[in-house]
Amino acid sequence: MTHRGEPTQAIDFNDENSNTSANPTFDAVLGARLSRRGLLRGGVGTVGTAMLAGFGVSACGGSDDPVVPAEKLLGFAAVPKSLADMVSVPAGYTASVLYALGDPIIAGTAAYKNDGTDTDFDKRGGDHHDGMEWFGLGADGKRSDSATDRGLLAINHEATTDEKLSSFFIHADGGTSTLPRPASEVDKEVALHGIAVIEVTRTAGKWGYVPGSAMNFRLTPLSPIEIAGPARGHAQMVTKYSPTGTMTRGTLNNCGTGKTPWGTFLTGEENWFGYFTRGAADDAARGNDKSVAALKRYGRNQGAASRHGWESGGTADQYARWNNSKTGASADGSDDYRNEMNGQGYIVEIDAYDKTRAAKKRTALGRFAHESAAFGKVEAGKPLTVYMGDDSRGEYIYKFVSTAPWNAQDANAADRLAVGDKYLDSGTLYVAKFNADGTGAWVELSMANAAIASYAAYKFSDAGDIAINTRLAADAVGATKMDRPEWNAVNPANGEIYFTLTNNSNRSIDPASGQYLPDAANPRAYTDMKGTSKQNGNPNGHLVRMKEGAGQAFTWDVYLFGAEANADKGMVNISALTADQDFSSPDGLVFSKATGICWIQTDDGAFTDVSNCMMLAALPGSVGDGGKKTLSYTKADGSKLDVATHVGKAATPDTLKRFLVGPKGCEITGLAETPDGKTIFVNIQHPGESTKMADVADPTKYQSQWPANAGYGAGKRPRSATIVITKNDGGRIGS
Ligand code: FEO
Ligand code: CA
Ligand code: CA
Repeated sequence: MTHRGEPTQAIDFNDENSNTSANPTFDAVLGARLSRRGLLRGGVGTVGTAMLAGFGVSACGGSDDPVVPAEKLLGFAAVPKSLADMVSVPAGYTASVLYALGDPIIAGTAAYKNDGTDTDFDKRGGDHHDGMEWFGLGADGKRSDSATDRGLLAINHEATTDEKLSSFFIHADGGTSTLPRPASEVDKEVALHGIAVIEVTRTAGKWGYVPGSAMNFRLTPLSPIEIAGPARGHAQMVTKYSPTGTMTRGTLNNCGTGKTPWGTFLTGEENWFGYFTRGAADDAARGNDKSVAALKRYGRNQGAASRHGWESGGTADQYARWNNSKTGASADGSDDYRNEMNGQGYIVEIDAYDKTRAAKKRTALGRFAHESAAFGKVEAGKPLTVYMGDDSRGEYIYKFVSTAPWNAQDANAADRLAVGDKYLDSGTLYVAKFNADGTGAWVELSMANAAIASYAAYKFSDAGDIAINTRLAADAVGATKMDRPEWNAVNPANGEIYFTLTNNSNRSIDPASGQYLPDAANPRAYTDMKGTSKQNGNPNGHLVRMKEGAGQAFTWDVYLFGAEANADKGMVNISALTADQDFSSPDGLVFSKATGICWIQTDDGAFTDVSNCMMLAALPGSVGDGGKKTLSYTKADGSKLDVATHVGKAATPDTLKRFLVGPKGCEITGLAETPDGKTIFVNIQHPGESTKMADVADPTKYQSQWPANAGYGAGKRPRSATIVITKNDGGRIGS
């Protein structure tokens, strides 16, 4: 998603900021001193293919014998930082546009004119391409986990480029910037959100998508979706649309993704709260019941305006549902949409291979601003684990552990969503507490935890209540406030879990109201200049990584700190990044199962005076391969604040290198690969997002004209798009 102007913007629907809990930013409980000796094994250098093929089986714990890689990874020349309106990749690689906003995907849909007159967005590519997963297809058109020339891409269409209510690039005149919004505009805007599944093929060496494939489909914010797990049928899920609380419409603001071991697509609903409005007197209308506290914790105070004003499109139900106020007389909410927002905010499971199956919201995995959902090591006979982050300032890191132990036969079951029912509807949700000594603990979020059952700020009723109001449960147990957890990914070589923490303007050594001190796992608070503007807090972000220990214990360190290469190496550029490595605001994060490369993507507004957003290739080591570091701050009153942290081994030119820089105004997000590692798909989201709505008729004033200026499609309005990258010598990507 975009975080344009995040530190100063008054209303940012992409960055809700409602964690006013008194939770410590780190827990001072002293754990047993960790012996780091065992963590130092395993090299930092390239990771062998053989090791990766055995993900979850043999690699954990590392080997003292180096594995010789098939080729030199990160052998390419680093791509320089750039402000050019183009996609740059290393010499020897080719990047091509594959699929953009508006492209027809359903047979019979007209070509995209890209002049604001197009309609039928439920049959076209959606906007703001984000997370993405590959689902291989064999020659018979059925699932193949080894296919490399034909497959489905399941793609999140997170949001749309707006300035004042309207998604201005998709309306001929830019659309309306005041309420009420015309239904015709609302209908187009709603339909370009959700997800798309498209068939892609490589024919005579060239990749393309298949516009009329019978396997293509879209889910939009109006598609019927089942509620599954503990919140199914809960009193807080009752709406006029679903008086039984078992269904909702649509999936919204889909950001990160995941892929299950049984071959389904997981999509995380992130900033869904911003699409709903609440009446100015709604607290009293609700009798100031506990739903008011819940709504506030999820960023919807009474009187909150919606991002696009979709509720104003008319009296029909599909518009009224965006008004999350108590307007009816019923006691249970079956005559209005007071509970409608409780239907959003989950990990949704979709069978990309079967468009006839209704998607399911897996509420056992909690409700928050979801990013990716990454599976830990998959081992027969053991429960499955899924790691997740909540991307808002000061929010938390979570883990779900299935009740059912993994049965490897389920990997190829015919009814994939039934396998999802088995593993994702029943389990235990945990939240992370980071200790200053490099240890941490996963804390159970259930009614069995007295801190939740007796929480004074919100009276939990049952497991469904915790699934719906997960943030409040995490507050109750004193979870650690993090610097905006974005994607996470699991290193296939050793099962360690990496989280991007994109930035946090609330981190301060002299905290004002709503701010908090740096701590061990979020240790930086500094000022970065962008031109003459001060950017305070942790403007460049970092990556934390975790290694599971006994029971619910873990160890952690900071893998990398984002920074400018010329920033102070003591307090800011702690990872000593060079000009070939410096980055800001890490967001998308994917480990290649083919090469072991860790791809780091940025969604940045802090370093964009120097470079457009980018993607880097990394070959990380392991938790504990660096050492302890103390950051010494001087507060405004002259007193000292020492923050001790744990920092991974510094990167070298062989272990971290910039691979791609995107066009102007974009973020880089989402990455899928073919199983041979020779093709990757990457999303370019919101090029030209800082264009003014008033300039929509004048292409010379667009911040970007990509991908039209790369020769793709009609018109000059910028479009989010998927690109495909191959190596000219046919080798693996990143070699
Ligand atoms: Fe959609 Fe937090 O990025
Ligand atoms: Ca993101
Ligand atoms: Ca700067």
